[in-house]
Formats: sequence, C-alpha cells, structure tokens
Amino acid sequence: MSEKKRILSGIQPSGALTLGNYVGALRNWVALQKTDEYECFFMLADLHTITVRQIPKDFRKNAMDLLALFIACGIDPEKSPVFFQSHVPAHLQLSWVMTCNTYMGELSRMTQFKDKAKKHATNINAGLFTYPSLMAADILLYQADLVPVGHDQMQHLELTRDLANRFNNAYSETFKVPEAYIPKVGARIMSLQDPTQKMSKSDTNENGYILLLDPIDQVIKKIKRAVTDSGSEVKRGEGKAGVENLMSIYSAVTGMSMDEIESAFIGKGYGEFKTAVAEAVAETLRPIQERYLDLMKNKDYLEKIYRDGAGKAAYIANKTVAKVYRKVGLIQP
Ligand code: TYM
Repeated sequence: MSEKKRILSGIQPSGALTLGNYVGALRNWVALQKTDEYECFFMLADLHTITVRQIPKDFRKNAMDLLALFIACGIDPEKSPVFFQSHVPAHLQLSWVMTCNTYMGELSRMTQFKDKAKKHATNINAGLFTYPSLMAADILLYQADLVPVGHDQMQHLELTRDLANRFNNAYSETFKVPEAYIPKVGARIMSLQDPTQKMSKSDTNENGYILLLDPIDQVIKKIKRAVTDSGSEVKRGEGKAGVENLMSIYSAVTGMSMDEIESAFIGKGYGEFKTAVAEAVAETLRPIQERYLDLMKNKDYLEKIYRDGAGKAAYIANKTVAKVYRKVGLIQP
C-alpha cells in the first residue's frame, strides 16, 4: 500500500469553470500533484450538481468540458485518478450513513445552503439540504489527509471533520480526519465588478467573472474594466478590495508574492497594473485553451481517463464502505 498522504478534491460541472475555481482550487491541485508527496484523487462532483435542476444536454457538455479542463490545466490522469462521482456508487452508499449521522441543526447552519435556497427558492429540495453529508462521504471514502479547496468550502470541511470524529467515537477509529488546504493567496477571488461578492459563474453581470474558456480578448477587456477605487496606488489596505483582488489574481498566475507586487508597481497607476494583470492571465489561459481544444477532439482518450479513474477510485472507496457497513452492524452480503 502507498505510504503517501492522500488528497481528494472535487469541482461541480455546474457550468463553465471560472478563474476563481482555477485560482482557488485547480491550480493548487496541479501544484500538489507535482510535489509527488501525495496520492491524489480528483472528482467531477456531478451528483452534487443535480441539487439544482440541470438541462441534461448542457449538463453533459459541462461535464465533458470540465474533464478536459482538468487535464488541460495540468492534472496528470496517469498519476492521479480523475473520475465522475456518479460512476462510483460508493459515494451514495456512504452518503446515506453520513446523512444518518448529521444533525438537522448542522445542515441548517450551512451558509451555502442558505445562499442557494435563496437563489433557487422554487426548488429547495432535500438534496440541497443534505449535500454536505454527501461531500463528507466523498472525502472520507478515500481516507483523505488533505482537501485542497477555496475558502467557500471551509464550513463543509469543518462539518466533514466533525462527522469523522463523531463516527470514530461512536464505532471505533474508522476515518482519517481530513485537513483543509486553503491557499494563502486566492482562496476567495471576488467579482471583478463587485469585490464584496465571490467570483461566480452565476453572477448576472458577466463582466464580474472570467471563464477559463472566455475568448482572450474578452478576458483582457473584463480585467481592464474591473472596478478599483478612486485612489491610484497598487497596494493592499482599507477600501482597496478591488485592487487587492486583482493583486491576488496576479500573484496566483505569476507566482509573485503580494509584497513583491506592491514593490514592482510603486509609482505606477491602475492602468498599467491592469494591463499587466490582463497579460499575465491571458498568458496562463492561452495554453490551457489550446490543450482543451485538442483534448475535445479526442473523446476516446477522455472516456478512457474517466473509466480508468472510476475503477481506481472504486477500489479504495468500496473498501471503506465495506468497513463502515460492517461497523454500523449491517449484515454483510
Ligand atoms: P465548486 O464546484 O463550487 O467549486 C470548486 C472549487 O473552486 C473553489 N472556488 C473558489 N475559490 C476561490 N475563489 C472563488 N471565487 C471560488 N469559487 C469557487 C471552491 O472553493 C472549490 O474548491 N462542494 C464542492 C465540490 C465538492 C468537493 C467534494 C470539494 C464535492 N465534493 C469533496 C472537495 C472535496 C463545490 O461545490 O465546489
């Protein structure tokens, strides 16, 4: 058995991937995978996506796009299994046990549930409510040590840890209690039009977000139009949320620290800074888009990736389910 620490993370194929998803999650997956210190599993969280009603044809397209983007961004499927959540039934098998160990009060406190319930007021379904129990199952199935996510998933991670401890205390040591891996910079990329709101593809103002597959000239325009403030200095501070957001993006795509960015732009105005950010983001996205287009021509290869990935994921996940079912007292088949 591998001695390496294990990583599990996922992204929903709920629409086009944003720069926020990339900066907050995907780019860190690639970096962690490269260290060779971890055994990584990367999941397309498609069962989570149906907590909001999808148009089947678009959903399928988003799912294949996301798979291709994982690879285009640098995930190596030979090293790290990439799979659809719905292809590994163990997620649903463990999810039920987790649901039966999650309190209504805990689920009611989840801010993402409250936000989504507001946004989808005509479809506040039970899945939307119990979603964090499924997410806990996703993680605990793999005995993950580390879960690289953006800031908005922190609360779900905390609940996962609580559920792992609760189960371990009730039925003896079973689950690894996972740690969140939240990047120092870029864990919360904000809307380019309203830096008090998270960058999200569900924003009604499309200038607020950048999609990884946006045409490059549009990416540049969106960054140049980003709201800043009436000042002119490129630095962090009170009332500088817009500039700081652009600095986080710049830091993520160039590898420069926030301090280095401040020093590099002393005496230079917002115009010059935005041009630099736009160019750096464009440089990052161009090769990703090229690889994506190539991959989309090779559906057989993509299919092989998700089939092999599901096989490897199921091998680990099924063992956990068997252990958990035995521990709770279910008769073995
Ligand atoms: P999802 O699909 O909403 O987001 C995927 C990842 O992108 C991060 N993210 C951001 N990071 C920084 N700035 C932003 N504006 C931004 N927007 C999104 C998210 O924090 C996340 O890391 N429930 C999860 C998917 C999931 C999962 C899991 C994740 C299901 N099971 C198990 C980890 C482990 C979700 O809806 O993420």
